[in-house]
Amino acid sequence: MKSRTPLIAGNWKMHKTGPEAVGSACKLVELTADTAGVETMIAPTFTALSEVAEAIGGSQIRLGAQNLHWETHGAFTGEISGDMLTAAGCQYVIIGHSERRQYFGDTDEIVNKKVTAALSAGLNPILCIGETETQREADETFNILDKQVQKGLEDLSENDLNTLVIAYEPVWAIGTGKTATTEQAQEVHLFVRSLIDKKFGKALAQSLRILYGGSVKPSNVKELMGMPDLDGALVGGASLDPETFSQLVHFQS
Ligand code: PGA
Repeated sequence: MKSRTPLIAGNWKMHKTGPEAVGSACKLVELTADTAGVETMIAPTFTALSEVAEAIGGSQIRLGAQNLHWETHGAFTGEISGDMLTAAGCQYVIIGHSERRQYFGDTDEIVNKKVTAALSAGLNPILCIGETETQREADETFNILDKQVQKGLEDLSENDLNTLVIAYEPVWAIGTGKTATTEQAQEVHLFVRSLIDKKFGKALAQSLRILYGGSVKPSNVKELMGMPDLDGALVGGASLDPETFSQLVHFQS
């Protein structure tokens, strides 16, 4: 048994209306009622957050959001602040997902502001990092990850980061059916842990949960989670169906 409690997090992206999300959440509550030693999180769309919070109330499932704005309030049409997410029942927020970086211009500087804002609002940030296929082929993986971690966590201290989670998601493995091999994933996770050790010290590096994301499914979850530095999964496609997601949550059985 690892000392870090694994986190299996479902990112529902732009899927499911409020009622659909509630239906899935209720089913998941039933299917995961018996899980112990694993933390489960689901991140529905903003409009479904409050309803899903109610549906999972009293269960072991945690609520997360998929994004936030870095300001607390103000004239930012279309944006949502950390305090609003906390008030809606969120404990987690996904930050810097590759789709945000790719389609919505989230740079490392923006990601840093968002991580800082999440922490101020009392949310646990899930900072997503990962290289593209071209970067991997050019042997730039470690440089890219180093930059994403250094800049994403700039001006934050060890004490700020007790609730930080990092998700390593190779961009080439997201929604493609391609998964990193367990060895590839382990190598990167160990590298990320060593970066945290260098920047913030051993204690944080040892307690930090590093999730793997990218085409995680029931057929590969057990092997991935068996690696010493993989502390959970951030799951897209396979989190949408409650039965399938429940199989991931039960990876230990
Ligand atoms: P996927 O997505 O599981 O569908 O590959 C992972 C993610 O985007 O977090």
